[in-house]
Amino acid sequence: MKWWPTAARRQKAITTTTEWMNRRYFMKMNTGLLAGSMVPGTVKRLLSNKTAEITVHPETITGDISPNIYGQFIEHLGRAIYGGIYDEKEGFRKDVLSKVQALHTPLMRYPGGTVTKIYHWKDGIGQNRPVRKNLIWGGNDNNHFGTDEFMEYSRLIGAEPFLTVNMSTGTAEEAADWVEYCNGTDTYYAGLRKQNGHERPYKVKYWGLGNEEAAKEDAGTLQDPQDYIKKAWYYAKLMKLQDPGIALIMVGDKENWNKQILQELHPICDYISLHLYASTKPGDPVSLFTSIAEMETNIRATAAQIKAFTPEKVEHFSKWYRFPSRQQPVKIALDEWGIWEAGGEGAYGLEMKYNWNHALGVATFLNIFQRNADVIGLATWAQTVNVLAPIMTDATSAVCQTIFYPMELYRRLCGNRSIANEMSDTNNALDIATSINDKTGMITIAIVNRDSKNAIDVKINAKVTGNWTAHELNAPSIDAVNTLKGPNVVDYKQRTVTAKNYTIAAHSIAILQARV
Ligand code: AHR
Repeated sequence: MKWWPTAARRQKAITTTTEWMNRRYFMKMNTGLLAGSMVPGTVKRLLSNKTAEITVHPETITGDISPNIYGQFIEHLGRAIYGGIYDEKEGFRKDVLSKVQALHTPLMRYPGGTVTKIYHWKDGIGQNRPVRKNLIWGGNDNNHFGTDEFMEYSRLIGAEPFLTVNMSTGTAEEAADWVEYCNGTDTYYAGLRKQNGHERPYKVKYWGLGNEEAAKEDAGTLQDPQDYIKKAWYYAKLMKLQDPGIALIMVGDKENWNKQILQELHPICDYISLHLYASTKPGDPVSLFTSIAEMETNIRATAAQIKAFTPEKVEHFSKWYRFPSRQQPVKIALDEWGIWEAGGEGAYGLEMKYNWNHALGVATFLNIFQRNADVIGLATWAQTVNVLAPIMTDATSAVCQTIFYPMELYRRLCGNRSIANEMSDTNNALDIATSINDKTGMITIAIVNRDSKNAIDVKINAKVTGNWTAHELNAPSIDAVNTLKGPNVVDYKQRTVTAKNYTIAAHSIAILQARV
């Protein structure tokens, strides 16, 4: 499915120099005119931009946007940690750390991923750490980066830690010991943490029970949902007896799996996980957006299952469990989302070069998360450095890929409550999300123009004070990439615009802000 008609393109009016520049490609392709040979003023009103209209309703709140939708993920996989975040000589790589800090992520998931199924946290603490074979992703893991390093890293980047526990080669007792190590105050494993130089508890709230347990090929045994349910109850009991305040993320999968998980685990299930990886069909950049649109359908379908199979509040939870049931409605944890294309490099081809089209995809995803804020509790992009990552490194330097920029911009600017809107866009190329910051009264319209050739004139209807500030991201083309050797291709502009005639450039992202 195409998002906009390519056959019947109408003639367009070029009204400004910027639009003129944007139109050069169109002119060459569609009229045979050499754009560079004409003076912008002489073609004024010859062609006209496509148009759209957006109406914002700040008084209609559609959901609270969890700050945790802007989370990240790191795994013991390839160069994600060793050679990415961590260097044997330097410890935490400073060039990488400053970039991860600039992402302002509120939540960091660790240690996996699939590696969760063979990871033993006790290998990664204290002085004498065993070298183990990374059975999932290859190579050896000397465990120099473990729990205490992860906690320190999370502190340095200002993120809450989110740990996943091993339900395959691990045990429920081992998982409960980890809770004690992280959150305990005066018992054996808390003492061990103190001995390792960390006096204060880490207060880890988010705990994932396994990872993709339905996956037949993985090193696990819980592919039957009933097996997972039985084991998850046991893990939850032991872990919650250590710390009743923790929040549990249960593994989700296809419809039948989710139905059983939700029906039987819902009293102790704070989140059900959903992993979403979009991709592009070779030679068809628009197909990325079709793939992402399917993800929104998945989110709505999971939300419908939550509604059908779980009560908002848990009634009659026996006091003999000795810990409380969940206190909030079940939410979705998109604890792995991203863009995963064929043909990457590194371990299992997971080192990906992200072009500007992918950045438009990331912005579209973030719009989807805002639109579905009522059902999404958290989301962690897979991953952070080198593996499916916004940040890439070589031995001596680091670079932010194109997808880094929308991640950073959305986190910095979007509001904490999703608000209603209407949009007419005959072109079908725009994707929007609207939000408000209930402390500052600032309205935000996040717009992505996925049309790689055409700018769109947008009329905005909203009762605001004064003009809008537009924060704009763009790159020379949808194929543009940032590389370790090349210069930064992403352009960021901030300017004042009026609601009557805001023009969003082809293949660009704009975040518009004004106060109500
Ligand atoms: O993010 C890479 C891998 O993708 C994770 O290890 C796994 O959970 C998923 O399939």
